[in-house]
Amino acid sequence: MNLDHEKKLAGEAAAELVEDGMTVGLGTGSTAAYAVRRLGERVRAGLHVRGLPTSTHTEALAREVGIPLVDFAEVTRLDLTLDGADEIDPDLNLIKGGGGALFREKIVAAASRRLIIFADHTKLVPQLGAFPLPVEVNPFGWQVAAERIAALGAHVTLRQSGEGPFVSDNHGYILDCFFGKIDDPVALERHLAAVTGVMESGLFVRMAERALLGDGQAVRTIQPAP
Ligand code: A5P
Repeated sequence: MNLDHEKKLAGEAAAELVEDGMTVGLGTGSTAAYAVRRLGERVRAGLHVRGLPTSTHTEALAREVGIPLVDFAEVTRLDLTLDGADEIDPDLNLIKGGGGALFREKIVAAASRRLIIFADHTKLVPQLGAFPLPVEVNPFGWQVAAERIAALGAHVTLRQSGEGPFVSDNHGYILDCFFGKIDDPVALERHLAAVTGVMESGLFVRMAERALLGDGQAVRTIQPAP
Protein backbone atom coordinates (compact mmCIF):
# COMPACT_ATOMS: atom_id res chain seq x y z
CA MET A 1 0.00 0.00 0.00
CA ASN A 2 1.61 3.25 -1.17
CA LEU A 3 -0.14 6.12 0.58
CA ASP A 4 1.86 8.73 -1.24
CA HIS A 5 0.65 7.32 -4.55
CA GLU A 6 -2.95 7.44 -3.26
CA LYS A 7 -2.49 11.09 -2.25
CA LYS A 8 -1.18 11.88 -5.72
CA LEU A 9 -4.06 10.09 -7.47
CA ALA A 10 -6.65 11.85 -5.31
CA GLY A 11 -4.97 15.25 -5.55
CA GLU A 12 -4.66 15.07 -9.30
CA ALA A 13 -8.27 13.90 -9.68
CA ALA A 14 -9.37 16.89 -7.58
CA ALA A 15 -7.42 19.29 -9.81
CA GLU A 16 -9.35 17.93 -12.80
CA LEU A 17 -12.58 19.32 -11.29
CA VAL A 18 -11.39 22.87 -11.86
CA GLU A 19 -12.99 24.58 -14.85
CA ASP A 20 -11.86 27.49 -16.95
CA GLY A 21 -12.54 30.86 -15.32
CA MET A 22 -12.86 29.54 -11.76
CA THR A 23 -11.48 31.15 -8.63
CA VAL A 24 -10.10 28.30 -6.53
CA GLY A 25 -9.11 27.96 -2.89
CA LEU A 26 -5.80 26.11 -2.66
CA GLY A 27 -5.43 23.85 0.37
CA THR A 28 -2.39 23.05 2.47
CA GLY A 29 -0.52 19.82 3.20
CA SER A 30 1.28 17.03 1.41
CA THR A 31 -1.90 15.89 -0.41
CA ALA A 32 -3.02 19.38 -1.39
CA ALA A 33 0.42 19.95 -2.92
CA TYR A 34 -0.33 17.29 -5.54
CA ALA A 35 -3.49 19.16 -6.57
CA VAL A 36 -1.65 22.48 -6.71
CA ARG A 37 1.10 21.02 -8.88
CA ARG A 38 -1.42 19.42 -11.26
CA LEU A 39 -3.39 22.66 -11.44
CA GLY A 40 -0.16 24.45 -12.29
CA GLU A 41 0.35 22.04 -15.19
CA ARG A 42 -3.17 22.77 -16.42
CA VAL A 43 -2.54 26.52 -16.18
CA ARG A 44 0.65 26.15 -18.18
CA ALA A 45 -1.43 24.24 -20.75
CA GLY A 46 -3.82 27.19 -21.08
CA LEU A 47 -6.42 26.92 -18.28
CA HIS A 48 -7.45 30.30 -16.86
CA VAL A 49 -7.93 30.22 -13.11
CA ARG A 50 -7.13 32.32 -10.10
CA GLY A 51 -6.01 30.71 -6.86
CA LEU A 52 -6.39 31.82 -3.26
CA PRO A 53 -3.88 29.96 -1.08
CA THR A 54 -4.60 28.80 2.49
CA SER A 55 -1.01 29.20 3.74
CA THR A 56 2.24 30.93 2.95
CA HIS A 57 3.62 27.52 2.07
CA THR A 58 0.92 26.90 -0.54
CA GLU A 59 1.29 30.46 -1.79
CA ALA A 60 4.97 29.81 -2.52
CA LEU A 61 4.17 26.52 -4.26
CA ALA A 62 1.39 28.10 -6.34
CA ARG A 63 3.72 30.87 -7.48
CA GLU A 64 6.40 28.30 -8.33
CA VAL A 65 4.01 26.32 -10.55
CA GLY A 66 2.57 29.44 -12.19
CA ILE A 67 -0.96 29.75 -10.77
CA PRO A 68 -2.13 33.40 -10.78
CA LEU A 69 -3.17 34.40 -7.26
CA VAL A 70 -5.81 36.66 -5.74
CA ASP A 71 -6.61 37.67 -2.18
CA PHE A 72 -9.74 38.61 -0.24
CA ALA A 73 -9.27 42.29 -1.12
CA GLU A 74 -10.12 41.29 -4.70
CA VAL A 75 -12.63 38.47 -4.24
CA THR A 76 -14.82 37.24 -1.40
CA ARG A 77 -16.61 34.37 -3.20
CA LEU A 78 -14.71 31.38 -4.54
CA ASP A 79 -16.07 28.75 -6.90
CA LEU A 80 -14.29 25.78 -5.42
CA THR A 81 -11.76 24.90 -2.75
CA LEU A 82 -9.49 21.85 -2.97
CA ASP A 83 -8.00 20.66 0.31
CA GLY A 84 -6.80 17.65 2.26
CA ALA A 85 -7.83 16.50 5.74
CA ASP A 86 -6.53 14.61 8.75
CA GLU A 87 -9.76 12.66 9.32
CA ILE A 88 -12.97 12.33 7.30
CA ASP A 89 -16.13 10.70 8.64
CA PRO A 90 -18.85 9.14 6.47
CA ASP A 91 -20.94 12.35 6.74
CA LEU A 92 -17.87 14.26 5.50
CA ASN A 93 -17.27 16.02 8.77
CA LEU A 94 -13.55 16.66 8.99
CA ILE A 95 -10.63 17.17 11.31
CA LYS A 96 -8.11 19.52 9.75
CA GLY A 97 -5.12 21.47 10.96
CA GLY A 98 -2.44 18.82 11.28
CA GLY A 99 -0.26 21.19 9.27
CA GLY A 100 -1.35 24.20 11.34
CA ALA A 101 -3.21 25.99 8.53
CA LEU A 102 -6.73 25.42 9.83
CA PHE A 103 -7.71 29.07 10.34
CA ARG A 104 -7.02 30.16 6.78
CA GLU A 105 -8.34 26.84 5.49
CA LYS A 106 -11.66 27.42 7.24
CA ILE A 107 -11.98 31.02 6.08
CA VAL A 108 -11.28 29.98 2.50
CA ALA A 109 -13.65 26.98 2.71
CA ALA A 110 -16.39 29.18 4.15
CA ALA A 111 -15.98 31.62 1.24
CA SER A 112 -16.32 28.79 -1.31
CA ARG A 113 -19.43 27.54 -3.00
CA ARG A 114 -17.96 24.03 -3.01
CA LEU A 115 -15.35 22.31 -0.83
CA ILE A 116 -13.74 19.20 -2.30
CA ILE A 117 -11.61 17.10 0.05
CA PHE A 118 -9.12 14.52 -1.13
CA ALA A 119 -6.88 12.11 0.73
CA ASP A 120 -5.38 8.65 0.91
CA HIS A 121 -7.85 5.97 2.02
CA THR A 122 -6.60 5.88 5.65
CA LYS A 123 -8.12 9.31 6.34
CA LEU A 124 -11.67 7.93 6.14
CA VAL A 125 -12.72 6.84 9.65
CA PRO A 126 -16.03 5.60 11.07
CA GLN A 127 -15.96 8.34 13.71
CA LEU A 128 -13.76 11.42 14.21
CA GLY A 129 -11.41 11.68 17.17
CA ALA A 130 -8.38 9.39 16.96
CA PHE A 131 -6.46 12.37 15.55
CA PRO A 132 -6.16 15.11 18.22
CA LEU A 133 -8.30 18.07 17.16
CA PRO A 134 -6.20 21.17 16.38
CA VAL A 135 -7.69 24.38 17.79
CA GLU A 136 -6.12 27.75 16.99
CA VAL A 137 -6.03 30.23 19.86
CA ASN A 138 -4.79 33.73 20.42
CA PRO A 139 -1.36 33.58 22.09
CA PHE A 140 -2.44 36.10 24.76
CA GLY A 141 -4.02 34.08 27.56
CA TRP A 142 -3.87 30.80 25.63
CA GLN A 143 -3.69 29.06 29.00
CA VAL A 144 -7.21 30.27 29.82
CA ALA A 145 -8.61 28.86 26.58
CA ALA A 146 -6.68 25.62 27.17
CA GLU A 147 -8.29 25.22 30.60
CA ARG A 148 -11.77 25.79 29.21
CA ILE A 149 -11.20 23.25 26.45
CA ALA A 150 -9.87 20.73 28.96
CA ALA A 151 -13.10 21.26 30.92
CA LEU A 152 -14.98 20.17 27.80
CA GLY A 153 -13.26 16.78 28.18
CA ALA A 154 -10.04 17.07 26.19
CA HIS A 155 -6.43 16.33 26.93
CA VAL A 156 -4.83 19.55 25.64
CA THR A 157 -1.25 20.03 24.42
CA LEU A 158 0.29 23.28 23.16
CA ARG A 159 1.89 22.46 19.80
CA GLN A 160 5.64 23.06 19.83
CA SER A 161 8.13 23.88 17.12
CA GLY A 162 11.82 23.74 18.02
CA GLU A 163 12.40 25.66 21.25
CA GLY A 164 9.00 27.34 21.55
CA PRO A 165 5.34 27.16 20.60
CA PHE A 166 4.40 26.62 16.97
CA VAL A 167 3.12 29.90 15.50
CA SER A 168 0.66 29.74 12.61
CA ASP A 169 0.69 31.96 9.49
CA ASN A 170 -2.06 33.75 11.29
CA HIS A 171 0.12 34.38 14.36
CA GLY A 172 -1.92 31.99 16.49
CA TYR A 173 -0.94 29.09 18.72
CA ILE A 174 -2.32 25.61 18.11
CA LEU A 175 -3.74 23.46 20.90
CA ASP A 176 -3.90 19.78 19.98
CA CYS A 177 -7.00 18.57 21.81
CA PHE A 178 -7.58 14.86 22.25
CA PHE A 179 -11.25 14.24 22.98
CA GLY A 180 -11.31 10.55 22.13
CA LYS A 181 -14.25 9.63 19.90
CA ILE A 182 -16.25 12.72 18.95
CA ASP A 183 -19.92 11.71 19.16
CA ASP A 184 -21.41 15.06 18.21
CA PRO A 185 -19.14 17.19 15.98
CA VAL A 186 -21.84 19.86 15.57
CA ALA A 187 -22.15 20.41 19.32
CA LEU A 188 -18.40 20.27 19.89
CA GLU A 189 -17.74 22.88 17.21
CA ARG A 190 -20.33 25.13 18.87
CA HIS A 191 -18.80 24.64 22.34
CA LEU A 192 -15.30 25.39 21.07
CA ALA A 193 -16.44 28.51 19.22
CA ALA A 194 -17.88 29.78 22.50
CA VAL A 195 -14.51 29.62 24.28
CA THR A 196 -12.98 33.09 24.52
CA GLY A 197 -9.59 33.16 22.83
CA VAL A 198 -10.42 30.41 20.33
CA MET A 199 -9.85 31.69 16.81
CA GLU A 200 -11.09 28.57 15.01
CA SER A 201 -11.21 24.84 15.50
CA GLY A 202 -10.12 22.24 13.00
CA LEU A 203 -13.59 20.70 13.00
CA PHE A 204 -15.14 21.28 9.58
CA VAL A 205 -18.77 20.29 10.00
CA ARG A 206 -21.01 19.76 6.96
CA MET A 207 -18.81 21.89 4.75
CA ALA A 208 -17.47 19.36 2.25
CA GLU A 209 -19.43 18.48 -0.87
CA ARG A 210 -17.49 15.31 -1.56
CA ALA A 211 -14.29 13.49 -0.75
CA LEU A 212 -12.02 11.83 -3.29
CA LEU A 213 -10.08 8.96 -1.75
CA GLY A 214 -7.08 7.34 -3.32
CA ASP A 215 -7.64 3.61 -2.93
CA GLY A 216 -4.90 1.43 -4.38
CA GLN A 217 -4.81 2.39 -8.06
CA ALA A 218 -8.29 3.97 -8.09
CA VAL A 219 -10.04 7.05 -6.76
CA ARG A 220 -13.26 6.55 -4.83
CA THR A 221 -15.80 9.33 -4.34
CA ILE A 222 -17.64 9.68 -1.03
CA GLN A 223 -20.68 11.92 -0.79
CA PRO A 224 -22.73 12.50 2.33
CA ALA A 225 -26.17 10.92 2.50
CA PRO A 226 -28.77 13.51 1.33
C1 A5P B 1 -3.21 21.57 7.17
O1 A5P B 1 -3.37 22.42 8.24
C2 A5P B 1 -4.20 20.46 7.25
O2 A5P B 1 -5.52 20.80 7.45
C3 A5P B 1 -4.07 19.49 6.10
O3 A5P B 1 -5.08 19.61 5.17
C4 A5P B 1 -4.12 18.15 6.71
O4 A5P B 1 -3.25 18.17 7.82
C5 A5P B 1 -3.74 17.04 5.75
O5 A5P B 1 -2.38 17.09 5.48
P1 A5P B 1 -1.66 15.95 4.65
O6 A5P B 1 -2.25 15.99 3.29
O7 A5P B 1 -0.20 16.35 4.66
O8 A5P B 1 -1.92 14.67 5.37
